[in-house]
Amino acid sequence: MTPSEPIILGLEGTAHTAGVAVIKGKEIIANTSSTYFPPQGGIHPREAAIYLAKEFPQLIGDTFKGLPFGIDKIDGIAFSQGPGLGPCLRTTATVARAISLRLGIPLLGVNHCIAHVELGRTITPADDPLVLYVSGGNTQLITFLNGRYRVLGETLDIAIGNALDTLGREMNLPHPGGPHIEKQAQTGQELLPLPYTIKGMSFSFSGMVTAAKKLIPKHSTADICYSFQEYTFAILAEATERALSCTKKKSVLLTGGVAANAHLQEVIQKVADEQDSSFYVVPRNLAGDNGVMIAFAGTHLLNTGEILPIQESQVKPRWRTDQVQVGWIS
Ligand code: ATP
Ligand code: FE2
Repeated sequence: MTPSEPIILGLEGTAHTAGVAVIKGKEIIANTSSTYFPPQGGIHPREAAIYLAKEFPQLIGDTFKGLPFGIDKIDGIAFSQGPGLGPCLRTTATVARAISLRLGIPLLGVNHCIAHVELGRTITPADDPLVLYVSGGNTQLITFLNGRYRVLGETLDIAIGNALDTLGREMNLPHPGGPHIEKQAQTGQELLPLPYTIKGMSFSFSGMVTAAKKLIPKHSTADICYSFQEYTFAILAEATERALSCTKKKSVLLTGGVAANAHLQEVIQKVADEQDSSFYVVPRNLAGDNGVMIAFAGTHLLNTGEILPIQESQVKPRWRTDQVQVGWIS
């Protein structure tokens, strides 16, 4: 950490998690979050937004109570401008704009997907990696080329995390289903047949969810979870293998909420090993949505002078990874 490095407050609020973090350079000074769990079913956008509106003031207040300096010492306020659920994004943006105006500090609009990537680039040695970004709302193979992160392949329908959570609900597992499916899969024994859909470096999971639901009355939860993970992770491995053999990248980075899955880590590690690439994964405690990743990406924006005027700070619910001009990588 050098004295000149800016202190950034990062706010994550694209969906279920209100994340608040303070960073300086690569140092995480504070990191806290609070996650909305729907009483039943999936996430209702308006209810999640009401939850975020309640949580942010408390989380921000508590963060600075625990620090030796006040909020007036921050050099920039970064927030998740998209993609995500409209009501959640608008709530988070409102909090960020208020702080920016009150303190007269730069507002930094961060793309949430790129933040997952930048987190990995900051806290692991992955330099110019092939990225497998796996989460509840996104599943993409990403690499940097000519000023942008390019999407080499992606889900053609639902994301891997969404697929896991949907199947988990059908099996009456608690929300989110991903970690529970991981646990159940450890005791599964029989590999049940499921459809395997891959098109080049893109893939699809919704047909597999439909097929897996039909297995529920006839087979054990453990066998279904085991089979579902084996098939979906094999698809991700095959797409990663193709992207790696095309790009010849020397490292593979696994990031996003589903990166917490130990079996997925093993499968992707094997792909990297076979092609003589290094494998890196974000630590489990930072795999899911958090304010740290927003703050790291915000630091890049501040350093390259990409400050967001308030009048242009409307949220972008469908903002794609490859729509962002990346000025901080040469
Ligand atoms: P994004 O906007 O990036 O899509 P998100 O809203 O999905 O983000 P994340 O926290 O990045 O939020 O990812 C949450 C997903 O991660 C959920 O679908 C959850 O089931 C999944 N997940 C968390 N832990 C595990 C695990 N151990 N195994 C599998 N999936 C997991
Ligand atoms: Fe995320």
